[in-house]
Amino acid sequence: MTQTDIEIKDRIIVALDVESAAQAKEMVRRCEPACTFYKVGLQLFMASWFEVVDWLKDRGHKVMLDLKFFDIPETVKLAVEQVNSRGVTFATIHGNDPIIRAAVEARGDLKLLAVTVLTSFGEEDLRAMGMTQSVADLVAFRARRALELGCDGVVSSGLEAPLLRSELGKKLLIVTPGIRPGANVRDGSDDQKRIVTAGMAIRGGANHVVVGRPITRSADPVRVLETMQAEILAAYQ
Ligand code: C5P
Repeated sequence: MTQTDIEIKDRIIVALDVESAAQAKEMVRRCEPACTFYKVGLQLFMASWFEVVDWLKDRGHKVMLDLKFFDIPETVKLAVEQVNSRGVTFATIHGNDPIIRAAVEARGDLKLLAVTVLTSFGEEDLRAMGMTQSVADLVAFRARRALELGCDGVVSSGLEAPLLRSELGKKLLIVTPGIRPGANVRDGSDDQKRIVTAGMAIRGGANHVVVGRPITRSADPVRVLETMQAEILAAYQ
């Protein structure tokens, strides 16, 4: 196996947004020849707690635990402490400075990613929440704070990745959801609004992309994975 093989298998984090541990394991068994990084989010965690997280670890895979902790600082700190001995690679949080500080204090070996602005949000969603900043300004502001407060990286759309990479440098990990194949990026037809292709995200500076439905709802998940990986490899050049 070449270095490129190892790296490419970690670039796409497959979001296991399925309703049971059995379905998640089935998906992983199909994808694992091509992919070694998986995301456990709210749906699967509610169904199986740490079962799939531990199972993925036992199979040698990396895990992103995406529970987007948001609560008072002490509660977030205690929640992060519950996770930091589990062998998880990435965990997600969001919040203001005291919340982020509390999470950083408790993170142990795991890498903490701050959610900037959900990829399902557009400008109109910020206005509806009473916010006056543009999405790009808010993402940049939150990413800068997260980095200054000791987070390892951020979750951010591919549209803002180039700005973050140029303003905040190489140290910041950028993990990008809202990935769609080219045709979907053009017609924009689901709940994700700030979408790009896998190649565009990596070319723009993302370290990893998170992909759910385009893989997990495909009749041929491995083919979609490999097509996106080919785009990513082309983006390195
Ligand atoms: O199916 P799809 O590719 O849209 O899945 C994207 C995944 O990334 C979902 O699990 C979603 O919870 C997660 N996510 C996101 N936007 C963020 C953070 C996480 O879409 N800002």
